[in-house]
Amino acid sequence: MRRLICAAPALLSILVSHVAALPAHAREATVITRRDDILDEYDFIVVGAGTAGLTVADRLSESGDYTVLVIEYGYLDMSHSIEATVRPDIDSGPSDEFPRATRFYNLTAVPQPGLGYSTPPLMAGAVVGGSSAVNGMFFMRGSAEDYDSWVWAAGEEHEEAFAEEWGWDNILPYFKKSVTFTPPTEEMVREYNITYDVEAAYGGTTPIHSSYRPFHWPATVAMWNAFKRIPGFRFPKEGAAGDQTGVIWAPNSRDPATERRSFSRPGHYTQEDGPASRDNFHLLTGHRVTQLILSPAPTPDSDNWSADGMRYTPRDGDMPESAWEVRAKREVIIAAGAAHTPQVLQRSGIGPRQVLEAAGAEVKVELPGVGENFQDHMNFAISYISKSFSPNSTTLSRDPEYAAQALDLWETNKTGPYTTFVNSAVFLPLPHFTNRTEEIVGKLLAQDPAEYLHEGVDETVIAGYVEQKKTLARQFRSEGSTLLEVPFSGGSSFSIVLCKSISRGTIHLSPDDDGVDPSGRGNVEPLVDYRAFSNPLDLDLVVELLRGTRQFMSADAMVETFGPVETSPGAHITSDEDLKAWIASRISPSTGHPVGTASLAPRELGGVVGPDLRVYGTRKLSVADNSIMPLVPSTHTSSTAYAIGEKVSFP
Ligand SMILES: Cc1cc2nc3c(=O)[nH]c(=O)nc-3n(C[C@H](O)[C@H](O)[C@H](O)COP(=O)(O)OP(=O)(O)OC[C@H]3O[C@@H](n4cnc5c(N)ncnc54)[C@H](O)[C@@H]3O)c2cc1C
Ligand SMILES: *[C@@H]1O[C@H](CO)[C@@H](O)[C@H](O)[C@H]1NC(C)=O
Ligand SMILES: *[C@@H]1O[C@H](CO)[C@@H](O)[C@H](O)[C@H]1NC(C)=O
Ligand SMILES: *[C@@H]1O[C@H](CO)[C@@H](O)[C@H](O)[C@H]1NC(C)=O
Ligand SMILES: *[C@@H]1O[C@H](CO)[C@@H](O)[C@H](O)[C@H]1NC(C)=O
Ligand SMILES: *[C@@H]1O[C@H](CO)[C@@H](O)[C@H](O)[C@H]1NC(C)=O
Ligand SMILES: *[C@@H]1O[C@H](CO)[C@@H](O)[C@H](O)[C@H]1NC(C)=O
Repeated sequence: MRRLICAAPALLSILVSHVAALPAHAREATVITRRDDILDEYDFIVVGAGTAGLTVADRLSESGDYTVLVIEYGYLDMSHSIEATVRPDIDSGPSDEFPRATRFYNLTAVPQPGLGYSTPPLMAGAVVGGSSAVNGMFFMRGSAEDYDSWVWAAGEEHEEAFAEEWGWDNILPYFKKSVTFTPPTEEMVREYNITYDVEAAYGGTTPIHSSYRPFHWPATVAMWNAFKRIPGFRFPKEGAAGDQTGVIWAPNSRDPATERRSFSRPGHYTQEDGPASRDNFHLLTGHRVTQLILSPAPTPDSDNWSADGMRYTPRDGDMPESAWEVRAKREVIIAAGAAHTPQVLQRSGIGPRQVLEAAGAEVKVELPGVGENFQDHMNFAISYISKSFSPNSTTLSRDPEYAAQALDLWETNKTGPYTTFVNSAVFLPLPHFTNRTEEIVGKLLAQDPAEYLHEGVDETVIAGYVEQKKTLARQFRSEGSTLLEVPFSGGSSFSIVLCKSISRGTIHLSPDDDGVDPSGRGNVEPLVDYRAFSNPLDLDLVVELLRGTRQFMSADAMVETFGPVETSPGAHITSDEDLKAWIASRISPSTGHPVGTASLAPRELGGVVGPDLRVYGTRKLSVADNSIMPLVPSTHTSSTAYAIGEKVSFP
């Protein structure tokens, strides 16, 4: 049933005339940029056309039985530079439709005592496609235990109920469904020894593409071969099948046919027969949802606030006298990303009492976990001077003859050095590189439960943290979970990523937030507090990560191949104290992987959503994005956002 056609034939003509005014490439899309074109009511409304949001909305509108509206703060930015991933392609493309800065939120953390009172940013996409439109295109999955840990952290009493819906076995089918994998060519397999297992990890046909680049530098190959000679290293055949421990090949979210970024806009909106061509689908861009409309349900029980719709305001132009409203018949799905999902909930009166009251928001559902449990991946770099391999990226920028050949390969065949990217990484369990695992786990479990959480945190959040610590202890000891990630592409500087931090941050409503004022535009950003190193054990962990990296870089095979000399921090810096100080002075608290701010966990453990992703204390209200991850997986997070989007279903 195509409700829109039946319900509002006049509306369609408005849409058509409006759409005709859009740039040619966007013309087929039923994108709406004016509030006049919006219906009063839809079956489903999704907040945020990001990675998970467009996935959910695509699936909900697929049958044609339901009307679906997605409201997105960002623009439908079709700029070439979003999709082009190869230098000559970027350079030769048309200029951007919108300034690049419009694709990101302006989010800055509050001063971080653990980081010398610096105020690091939090990067998050503000464009149709969300963070999948601006991310680094590293496209892999965590280990099975990363997803099983969400079940373990639900505590003994609830484990069974959570295990019915979540855990690796339950999420794997959605990982498989969420992407189209293109295996490496025979030539690439021969040249680089790329291993993969389609049967175990893939098989889906959704046009979100996962593939390997056709070219890798000789130094990358040399590093693979050196790792293969270090005793104790493993090389899983396929990292995306739940075994991501060791040295792995990691694909990119890239369409191999076009050599362009693959992300949720072309994969879940403008694809052939996608939402953009459906009469029952509306996308409103350039508008921010400020607040949900919650009304007391007719039969009061514990779930007595019903999400009937939302208020929204334009990003540009004159402000209306009061925010506009739109109603949802069946369900409101919040997919605003881990930074803004808690903001929308808190502005609506769902969250920790203290935080809401400080901002002058009415408390409707006291749900202390909203905006708590904020996690990301910290990262810092270590650098070496090492034996040279050529050609390398410098050859490409300095040797005109080599560059000309590379350009020719790109232009004639979309292959060659210009297509290279990072496709390899080392993921190691803690016991693999330190003898201090038991010492660290001992300290972790001996901590007072509330110690190192912020003042005034609710008992339920503390109880959830206790379960998380038990879970982390189990993972720290396990050979099936990883703590250290080092991506490599043959360079001599490596990012070191802390895959699981013990500190917990917060995303709270700013006390100045005018989002609750119906006449405000809702531009006040939430207070982002990483609380980096608030739990001092994270400092012990990062020191071990650095030592672990030094360990494999000084293995015989690496020394023979690269003769690496550490330049930063430098081999003379060795003591715990010096290493801690050096790392804390330069570490970034974010890899753009915020999660955990509307956690999937029991309500008495600080959870915000249950196994069905419905928000506790409400009806018709769900969250479907990375905020639901109770513990950050040891991987880059976009693949899991798609899987979450695929998994959401409404009976
Ligand atoms: C710079 C950067 C690099 C990254 N690199 C990688 C990488 O290499 N590999 C990887 O796997 N992951 C990477 N990530 C992380 C990954 O992209 C994200 O984890 C994932 O895309 C998040 O998906 P999401 O659906 O939770 O949120 P998002 O995709 O961020 O979607 C949220 C959407 O909601 C919209 N929105 C927010 N608030 C409102 C509101 N009030 N009203 C209307 N709309 C709203 C936003 O504009 C956005 O479009 C990176 C992220 C960043 C920022
Ligand atoms: C970002 O916010 C800061 C203050 O929070 C402001 O000074 C700055 O101008 C903003 N930048 C942009 C690009 O809006
Ligand atoms: C591929 O693997 C084989 C066997 O381990 C090895 O001999 C060969 O050098 C490798 N080639 C490359 C390019 O890594
Ligand atoms: C919701 O239910 C609680 C008890 O379960 C009750 O105290 C409260 O008044 C109810 N609220 C509404 C709006 O019905
Ligand atoms: C890169 O290759 C050039 C030759 O093209 C060589 O001179 C240089 O030393 C190489 N650099 C590294 C870091 O290997
Ligand atoms: C062109 O690309 C194909 C597929 O990647 C590859 O097999 C072939 O060798 C390439 N041709 C040249 C001249 O590089
Ligand atoms: C643990 O200690 C032993 C003895 O000192 C040492 O040989 C081994 O390499 C250490 N293991 C790790 C993972 O650091």
